[in-house]
Amino acid sequence: MSWIQITETENIPPREGRTVKIGELSIALFNTGEKFLAVENRCPHKGGPLADGIVGGTTVTCPLHNWRICLETGEVSKGCDAQLPPVTQFPVRVEEGLIYLQTA
Ligand code: FES
Repeated sequence: MSWIQITETENIPPREGRTVKIGELSIALFNTGEKFLAVENRCPHKGGPLADGIVGGTTVTCPLHNWRICLETGEVSKGCDAQLPPVTQFPVRVEEGLIYLQTA
């Protein structure tokens, strides 16, 4: 497992997300205002780009149909859909103002 340097922390303002491409992977990297968290950049509903969603606390709301994804657990919530598998999360580390992602 290796860490990949992504960007400087100042490049992702609080409560915003950015798309990170690593090979075939598209990852949504967020600054919650308190920490940086990352999940796959694909909503399990119909593939909405989660990096463009609205961040509130440690949750992102999908920009297409408003499903909510917990960025800490990957858990998906939408009305009565209780059996949705979580989205994939990726470990994030911040060191000396730089953000690193672990993808495998
Ligand atoms: S694609 Fe995300 S809620 Fe529909």
